[in-house]
Amino acid sequence: MKSKIEPLTLELISPTLEIHVSKALAKLGLSLQQSEKLAESIVRLSDFYIQNPERETPWSERWAQVAYLVYFHPLNLARNILAIQRGHAVGFFDGLEHVLDFGAGLGSASQGLQAKTNLSRFNLIEPSQVCWNLLENQWRYVQDYQKNEVSHDPGKTLSVFSYALTELASLPDWIFENEALMILEPATSEDGRRLLQVRQALIASGFYIWAPCTHQRDCPLLSQSKTDWCHDRAHMTAPEWFVSIEKHLPFRNNTITTSYLLARKKRPKEILSQVRLVGDHLNEKGKSRQMICRGPEREFLSWLHRHGPPPIYPRGELIDMPSVTVRGRELRVDNSN
Ligand SMILES: C[S@@+](CC[C@H](N)C(=O)[O-])C[C@H]1O[C@@H](n2cnc3c(N)ncnc32)[C@H](O)[C@@H]1O
Repeated sequence: MKSKIEPLTLELISPTLEIHVSKALAKLGLSLQQSEKLAESIVRLSDFYIQNPERETPWSERWAQVAYLVYFHPLNLARNILAIQRGHAVGFFDGLEHVLDFGAGLGSASQGLQAKTNLSRFNLIEPSQVCWNLLENQWRYVQDYQKNEVSHDPGKTLSVFSYALTELASLPDWIFENEALMILEPATSEDGRRLLQVRQALIASGFYIWAPCTHQRDCPLLSQSKTDWCHDRAHMTAPEWFVSIEKHLPFRNNTITTSYLLARKKRPKEILSQVRLVGDHLNEKGKSRQMICRGPEREFLSWLHRHGPPPIYPRGELIDMPSVTVRGRELRVDNSN
């Protein structure tokens, strides 16, 4: 087994996206170089979300448009790309053609799917006219989208909720008709645990979870803990202007995190020999531990330091299950691995 897997590193803002953001920003009378002013809008929208977790994004406000363009949209696009990469690794998108992007905002999920998959038909469902103006004026590269229509071929349709569930009271009934579902939510304990409850409801109604879960049984992060939540992480490279904005923010995104679910009605291939790393590498006295997903128990792989340097595995990756000796919840990796 490899002793080091490089962490997934994503380019936060592609040159194409930078051009579009820059043009849209110019229409709002600002440039990417005005980092302090841009940061003020970002803090304002962030505070709005914290104070009003269930309210809709206030698209009519100029500061919300600015904050979304330069910050929330690029980050959500990168988070979508992270979930899409995990989906590719297990063949999740095979046979799907059509995307229904619900609560599309500025199209972060659709742009990610268009760039990274063969999906070719997009319906973006978004009630805010402000988003449509920005999309139609600036985002023509999301092609072949049909505005707010839901006609589709359910057997080949992927329903997408990218940071949109929070603004809805419950999952709409029509998603249960479609073959596949991709949901992204903020990587917080509250939102992530809510997503684990959605997971249970999806399994109960006939869906199989393809990622991040490696099984369809109870999730131990929900059943055996009151605070744990499942989330993934990628590293990122960001342009100079984005780094300058972050210097004025009271929070940082050194890495990109997200809680996601990829579900289909089709059964996934059995991946019994593999486990997913659902925790970060924890360095403790004499040993290292890392939480894994392989069933209904909350389990950790552990490596004794006296056997040599432990392998470095990033959170979110699938690895082959090494041979282990069981010590309670700890699966001590055999020295022979
Ligand atoms: C937090 S934004 C997420 C936007 C985008 N998907 C992203 O990943 O950045 C949630 C979006 O859901 C939209 N929304 C709210 N209620 C909705 C509804 N009932 N139907 C469709 N979209 C809705 C809002 O206008 C907003 O653009």
